[in-house]
Parts: sequence; structure tokens; C-alpha cells
Amino acid sequence: MTEPPKPDPDRDPVASGVAFTPRLVTPTGPAPKRASDMVRPDVIEDAALVWRDGVITYAGPAWALPRSDLAADGVEVRVDGAVVPGFVDCHTHLPFFGWRADEFESRLSGLTYRDVQGRGGGIYRSARLLAEAADEKIIEFCLPLAQEMLAHGTTAFEMKSGYGLSVEGELRQLRLARALAERVPQSVSVTLLACHAVPDGWERAAWVDAACRDLIPAAAEEGLADAVDAYVEDIAFGLDDLERIAAAAHEHGLRLRVHADQLGHSAAAEAAVRLGAASADHLNNAGAEGVSALGDGSTVAVLLPVSTLFIGATRPPAQELLDAGAALALATDFNPGTSPCLSMPEVLAAGSALYGIAPLTGLTAATLNAAHVLGMSDRLGSLEPGKRADFVVLDAAEPAMVAYRPGHDPIASVWLGGRPVSPAT
Ligand code: NIG
Ligand code: FE
Repeated sequence: MTEPPKPDPDRDPVASGVAFTPRLVTPTGPAPKRASDMVRPDVIEDAALVWRDGVITYAGPAWALPRSDLAADGVEVRVDGAVVPGFVDCHTHLPFFGWRADEFESRLSGLTYRDVQGRGGGIYRSARLLAEAADEKIIEFCLPLAQEMLAHGTTAFEMKSGYGLSVEGELRQLRLARALAERVPQSVSVTLLACHAVPDGWERAAWVDAACRDLIPAAAEEGLADAVDAYVEDIAFGLDDLERIAAAAHEHGLRLRVHADQLGHSAAAEAAVRLGAASADHLNNAGAEGVSALGDGSTVAVLLPVSTLFIGATRPPAQELLDAGAALALATDFNPGTSPCLSMPEVLAAGSALYGIAPLTGLTAATLNAAHVLGMSDRLGSLEPGKRADFVVLDAAEPAMVAYRPGHDPIASVWLGGRPVSPAT
């Protein structure tokens, strides 16, 4: 893979320019957007987007553009399609190594996801694959995936551990995530998924002890993680474990994420809100209390419709969440078990068709709200002065076309810090 240079507005003063577009569509203002605010991003017809040194200086109607805003040495492009913020994929399980297509086939012939995991497959399989692979092999496997994400319009994303399944293994996976982050052009946030599966040979409570006593402090000390996640499920960890993980994360200044109510109902959604989590993710089996907590609280509801599709899970109460006033984000959950899909356009399509999420609501969920989940909404996630010029040019002037045409590649070009990075130039 050819690696585009990582744009850095501080070091790289040449990325200046203006793009004229028939339509610029972006959420604006404070994040996260809730419910009815999500459906109303700004839609500016005949717009100009201007950036200097990689940072947006103007986003508005072309007629109102002050000539002084144009840098003499910048690029000037006229595009036929809509300009929207780059997608922010706020929930992936990169870095991982290898695929699990045979498990997919087993599920199609009758096994459940729980059965596969119970036979030593699932997360345990990915943990073995990761442990057996050399660092450089893992990086070589993941780099083209990050490049493919970029080509699909993802300009920032999250990586998680959770396939390390030992203190050293988790720290190694976090170091690999940080190493990958150095080599991909996108902005990256790294999450320590401290409790994903109970490691072989451990009692659940003993692993949670080790995670709180050794793993979280070590990850924080080495600056390896920005957040801590836990998988609350009957085949994984309980609410009491989540409480302890949350306390340790808090003590070390790390944000909290929660895999909540995915395969069954565990009341993790309302626990996530109570514990001040940045997000509660999946939510397929969230109940009325979870919905109302997310509606009132500051935790973002991250929905992962392709994983729902892929494992045939119950649909989450997406409309109820919107009606309750929750802030929604959409992400891929990219991983080899429940969502081998890295395409945010596909996520938007599935979010609309499967969950009934309006296309413009989906756009807010996949950009500004997702950036908020990663703690990045001060610098990216929308096209506003002061933010990085991370944007996507669509191949149509109507952004609803992204959700309307599953399987179609709607991306004409991708720009990072004001530089065109895909297609490669
Ligand atoms: O978010 N359910 C827990 N973790 C992942 C799947 C991990 C795997 O199967 O490898 C998820 O769906
Ligand atoms: Fe996940």
C-alpha cells in the first residue's frame, strides 16, 4: 500500500484552497446533536469551502465569500457533487489479524454467535490469531484496511484492544494501535477494551482485578489509550464488573465506553449513563429504562446496524431513542466476527433501511456526533471555521443518495487537512 503523508496543519503550511460545490451539507454548532437537531444539518446551496494551512476559514454561500479569504497559493476546485464532513467511524475493533469466514458459514448452518464463542471461536479465535502473528504482519494486514476505509470516506476512526486477553497481550495490541495510528493518514483514537472475554485460565473476577489494578494503570501511564471499554453480556462481563472498570478508568482520566445490551438485555445502557460513559454501543436489547436514560443523559447512543444485519440481532429501539431525545452516532463495529464491513456509506444505508434513520440524521450521526464520542468534535466532525478541512466530495449533489444506494460507492474524492488523499493523487 502507498501511504499518503499524514497531514499536519502545524507542520504543513501548503494545504490551502477553496472548493465550490452545488451543495455543502454539515451539522454545525455544539456536539452532540440530539434527536430533532440531528435531522437539520446546514444545507448551503452553491457553497464555497475555504481552508488555509489545512484548517477551514469559511463555509458558506459562494456569493458571500470574502475575496480576502482566498489564499493566493491555494488550490481551487469546482466539484459536481455535495461536500460533506469526512466520516468518523467511532467504533471499530482494529487492529485485528485474519478473518473468520468459516464461523460465518457455521452460523448460517445453524450455530449462534454464542455457540461459536463457546467452542473456542469468536473473540478467542481472534485472540489466538493476534498472539501468533508478528507485529509487522499485523500492521501489514491492517494498513490496507485503513486505506480502504479512507477510500470509503472515513477520515477519523477508533481502534480498540480486546483481542489481547492478558495484561501484556492487551498492552501489545494498544501499542500496535498506536503504531498503526502513526502510519495511517486519518485521525485515530485508541480504546482499551479491558473486558471483552474472560481470558482462558482466569476467573472473571480475578481478570477484572487485574484489569483495574495492572492493565488500566499501565495503559494510562504509557499513554496508550484514550478510553476504556467493557463488553457487558451473559457470555462476557456483568454490571458489577463494569462499575469497577468505570471507577478505574475515571481514576486514570480515561473516558468510558460500553458494549451494552447487544445479544441480550443486561441494563448496561442505563448503567453507562449513570457511570458517565461517553457512549453506550449496540443497544439491540436496550429496554425502556435505557432509552429514557440515554434520552436524558449525556451518553451518546452508538448504533451499529451492519453488525445487527450480519448476526441477525434484534433491532435496537432507534426511533424510541430519537423520540426520547438521545444523541445517536453510527459506526461500523468493523471486526472479523460480527461486522466485517468497514464502509460508513454501507452503515448509513443499513441505518436507514433497517432502523428507519433519516439520511440527514444519519449524516450527523456519522460525523459530528461520532467525533464527540471520540472527544474530537472540537477539531473535526463538521465543516466549520477552525476545524480541520477533512471532507468528502460525493458523486451526487443529494446526500440522501448515500443511504439510498447500498453497495454503490458514492465517494468522488476524500480530503484530509485540505489535501486530496483518495483517489491517490
Ligand atoms: O462488538 N460483541 C463483542 N465484541 C464485538 C465482536 C467481537 C468478535 O466477534 O470478534 C462486537 O460485536
Ligand atoms: Fe464492538
